[in-house]
Amino acid sequence: MHFPTAILSLALSSFAVAAPTATISSSDVTPAQLVAIAPQSVSCANVTSFASECRTAQQAAPFLNAAFAQYQTESVGQKAALLSLIAFETGDFRFNINHFPGRAGQGTRNLMMFPFVWKYALDTPEVAPQAQALAPGFTASSTVGDLNNASNSTKIGVLNLVLDDKFSWASASWFLATQCNPSVSAALDTATEAGWESYITQCIGTTVTDDRKAVYTAALAALSP
Ligand SMILES: *[C@@H]1O[C@H](CO)[C@@H](O)[C@H](O)[C@H]1NC(C)=O
Ligand SMILES: *[C@@H]1O[C@H](CO)[C@@H](O)[C@H](O)[C@H]1NC(C)=O
Ligand SMILES: *[C@@H]1O[C@H](CO)[C@@H](O)[C@H](O)[C@H]1NC(C)=O
Repeated sequence: MHFPTAILSLALSSFAVAAPTATISSSDVTPAQLVAIAPQSVSCANVTSFASECRTAQQAAPFLNAAFAQYQTESVGQKAALLSLIAFETGDFRFNINHFPGRAGQGTRNLMMFPFVWKYALDTPEVAPQAQALAPGFTASSTVGDLNNASNSTKIGVLNLVLDDKFSWASASWFLATQCNPSVSAALDTATEAGWESYITQCIGTTVTDDRKAVYTAALAALSP
């Protein structure tokens, strides 16, 4: 499955002389690749804490591939960055809600803070009317400060709307597509550590650590043709 895509991308890059870097395209992510990135996702059999949130690689794969298709997450570099973020934030797909320290309204599979959960809910047509009904005073342009001031019950209610698998596995792709500068997506397309660092620091707004980097490196190796 990988060979035709690899050959095509090589052929294209040899003609696209002006392009600074070749984008490596990829096909669907497999459960085996996900296990290479998130080793504990091989099974949820003995999980006792928050067990209802645990998903195996086998269960997660179709939702992740649907999300990549929906938000045009196409390059190996983008997929590696998103999958490594999800694996890192969720302890290998075991959490859908922030439990440590337990911030109200923080969750989905990239463990987004409530202001982004709110924006994601409003951007998701299936749940937007319910989100708006729960928080009539807020809009798409409400500030982070205002949104953080929402009551805990409002935050938890809105988060609950996007915890379903078909939404929660897509939030990392939504975030990259809508909340990051397009230059970050382009940097990720290069499938380099420098590109990934710009995503982590300029878009996710956190710091590069050896632990995070190791998961990204594993993801890149698992997905590379
Ligand atoms: C779960 O625990 C049982 C009993 O200790 C053990 O036999 C089994 O290998 C464990 N499964 C996984 C996937 O860790
Ligand atoms: C809201 O939840 C946070 C935890 O996220 C907690 O620390 C805080 O006490 C709660 N506030 C109220 C008013 O219950
Ligand atoms: C959030 O609530 C606090 C306490 O009520 C208030 O002082 C602050 O101005 C509010 N912030 C925003 C951005 O509304």
